[in-house]
Amino acid sequence: MKILVLGGGAREHALLLALSRDPAVTSLTCAPGNAGTAALADNCAVDPADPAAVVALVAEIGADLVVVGPEVPLVAGVADAVRAAGTACFGPSAEAARIEGSKSFAKQVMAAAGVATAAAQVFSSAQQCAEHLRAAPAPYVVKADGLAAGKGVHVGSDLPTAVAFARDVLAEPGTTAVIEAYLDGPEVSLFALSDGTTVVPLLPAQDFKRVGDGDAGPNTGGMGAYAPLPWLPADAVARIEREVLQPVVEEMARRGTPFQGLLYAGLAMTSTGPQVIEFNCRFGDPETQVVLALLETPLAGVLLACATGRLGDVGPLRWRDGAAVTVVVAAEGYPAAPVTGDPLTVGPLPEGVAVLHAGTRVESGAVLSTGGRVVSVTAVAASLSTARDLAYEGVAAVGLRGGHWRTDIATAAAAGEGAVP
Ligand code: AMP
Ligand code: GLY
Repeated sequence: MKILVLGGGAREHALLLALSRDPAVTSLTCAPGNAGTAALADNCAVDPADPAAVVALVAEIGADLVVVGPEVPLVAGVADAVRAAGTACFGPSAEAARIEGSKSFAKQVMAAAGVATAAAQVFSSAQQCAEHLRAAPAPYVVKADGLAAGKGVHVGSDLPTAVAFARDVLAEPGTTAVIEAYLDGPEVSLFALSDGTTVVPLLPAQDFKRVGDGDAGPNTGGMGAYAPLPWLPADAVARIEREVLQPVVEEMARRGTPFQGLLYAGLAMTSTGPQVIEFNCRFGDPETQVVLALLETPLAGVLLACATGRLGDVGPLRWRDGAAVTVVVAAEGYPAAPVTGDPLTVGPLPEGVAVLHAGTRVESGAVLSTGGRVVSVTAVAASLSTARDLAYEGVAAVGLRGGHWRTDIATAAAAGEGAVP
């Protein structure tokens, strides 16, 4: 099977690593890729969000399957274009990708499907939005209604800051602001494969969204993750499948926009049960790095089955025992103003550790940072605490001037802390 992976982050590096372990795979191409993916795939300098350019690349390399990593190409209709040209594509249509692209659309789908989520109101007037915030209890949750790469959300207890954030969101022409009730409880990222009908959940993971230790500082794309979650009740995944994933997939099909690809539910485990914070229409980054590190079932066959409506034929997925931890090393200044162009070096790594590249490129034989999240150091071991220690040993082998990372990824969970209220 010849596979084209679209995207250039550590999630795509993780997808390629898992695909490269599948004996059915004969060739891997990545567009645009990064310095790390170049070791596993042919990198092609094609814009992954340009439907015509992607279709041309698919024809040129004779791909049997396209796997779309990021949300931007999906919202731009790249999966539709690939399928229209007759090639199997893992990833939802632009219509179905609205579950991530529009927060108000996601709320409508959840209301129709009876899925628990934070109460929300949409505003186009800054004044009405401010009045609503003044009357609401803290903490305040304000979101921009559109794709914002994890930066379109403000959560905080200071009223003037929340009002100012909403005003800034609404200053963008054509945008609306969503004000939500605050959901209290630990967060879970649960990914599910769907072929439009059948739903197969993957292992639950947890992401660390804030830039600093102890959840300090601004939101980022994600600074680290671990899987599985020792504190999560054993029946939680089945409950989320039954109460969230299956109803949403059924509602999308009922609307004539079946969801085929990876449905990512970001949930708060509250005292009244799981409640949806957001949906994404693609694998999460960095959770994919840990989830796929534990997958034993060959990935290409599963993604192809998903893309061709045969997910029901795939038996239960097989997972490695143990746990995986990933720690993101970010560029100096990330997330506000990431510095680019610093050399990246990686020394000898302990067994079970992989350095997955995100913001990197090769220039004159050297690997340079291109900003943002630069690498995602991923470790697999028999226990969560060993995986955590190994991941940090791997981080110590990474050389990046000004690079920074959180030092508390999976620490509480490895110490047996954390529980659903
Ligand atoms: P989102 O981009 O919607 O995933 O939001 C980013 C982060 O903001 C989430 O991972 C949560 O940590 C936080 N967040 C978003 N919505 C809520 C909410 N209603 N209650 C509490 N925290 C939230
Ligand atoms: N880890 C959060 C995301 O992928 O959106």
